[in-house]
Amino acid sequence: MPAPTPPQPTPPTGPSGRDPHSHADRAASFDRDAAVYAQVRPTYPREALAWLLPAGARDVLDLAAGTGKLTERAVDLVDNGTHVVAVDPSAAMLAELAARLPGVATHRGTAEAIPLGDASVDAVLVGQAWHWFDGDAAAAEVARVLRPGGTLGVLWNDRDGDVDWVARFGAILHQGDRLEPDPGRPDGPELGAAFDGVEAGTFRWTDRIPAGALRTLAGTRSYLLTLPEAEREERLAEVDALVATHPDLAGRPDVDLPYVTYAYRARRR
Ligand SMILES: C[S@@+](CC[C@H](N)C(=O)[O-])C[C@H]1O[C@@H](n2cnc3c(N)ncnc32)[C@H](O)[C@@H]1O
Repeated sequence: MPAPTPPQPTPPTGPSGRDPHSHADRAASFDRDAAVYAQVRPTYPREALAWLLPAGARDVLDLAAGTGKLTERAVDLVDNGTHVVAVDPSAAMLAELAARLPGVATHRGTAEAIPLGDASVDAVLVGQAWHWFDGDAAAAEVARVLRPGGTLGVLWNDRDGDVDWVARFGAILHQGDRLEPDPGRPDGPELGAAFDGVEAGTFRWTDRIPAGALRTLAGTRSYLLTLPEAEREERLAEVDALVATHPDLAGRPDVDLPYVTYAYRARRR
C-alpha cells in the first residue's frame, strides 16, 4: 500500500492571502494602495512617448493603464482631436486615473480580452505591464483592436543598476524574489506574424524625488505588496537603513533616481 502523502506546507502569503511567488497574485497586487502608487511611481520620458506614438494617431489605447502614469504623458503629447482610452482590470487603479484625468474614458478589462472593437485604435501603449500578460493572447488581442498600419508601443522604466546605491536598493527589493529581477530587458515582446519586426529604443533620465520617498516607492513593488507583513516591514527598514547610511543618500533631502527606459514599437501589418 503506498504511504499517505504528507500534508503540504502552505506557502506564506501576504495581505489578502496573496502569494509573493505567484505570477497571477503579483499581477493583481497593485490596487492594494492605488493612491500611493499614483503618488510615487515614475512617469515616462516624453521622448520615449514621442518615439512610440505614430504621427497623426487619432485613437490611442493605454492598456494596463493603472493610475494613468503613461496615459497622462500620452494625453500631453497628442493633438486635441485625439481620444485616449484607458483599460485595466483594477477598479481601484482606474479610479485614481479617472480622478487625475477626467477626460479619459476608462474600461475594466485585460490584455487577453480587450473591451474594444476590432480595428478601433491607431496605437496601443503598454507601460510596465507586458510581463504580466499572457504574451500570445495579448499580441492577438492588440492585433485585433489595432487598425492596419497602427502601432503597438511597449515600455519599461528600469532603475539604472550601474549606480551603486541604486543596485543596493534593487537588491533589497528583490531579495528572495523568484519571479524577478530582470537583469536588463531582452528584445521586447514576441508578437507574431501580424506585426512587422520590433524596433527598440533606449532613453536615459532621472527622477528627482525626496529621499524618504524611496521607502514609499519600494512599498509599491508587486513583491513587497504580496510579502507577509513582517517581511515587508523588514525590507522597508533595510531601505531606511540604506537611505540613512549610503554616502550618496545620507542627509540629502532629495535624490536623483536614474532610470533607463526600454521602449519597443511594432507596426500592425
Ligand atoms: C506596474 S502597473 C503599471 C501601470 C501603468 N501602466 C504605469 O505605467 O504606471 C501594472 C498594471 O497592469 C495591470 N494588469 C495586470 N495584469 C493585467 C492584464 N492581464 N491585463 C491588463 N492589465 C493588467 C495591473 O492592474 C496594473 O495596473
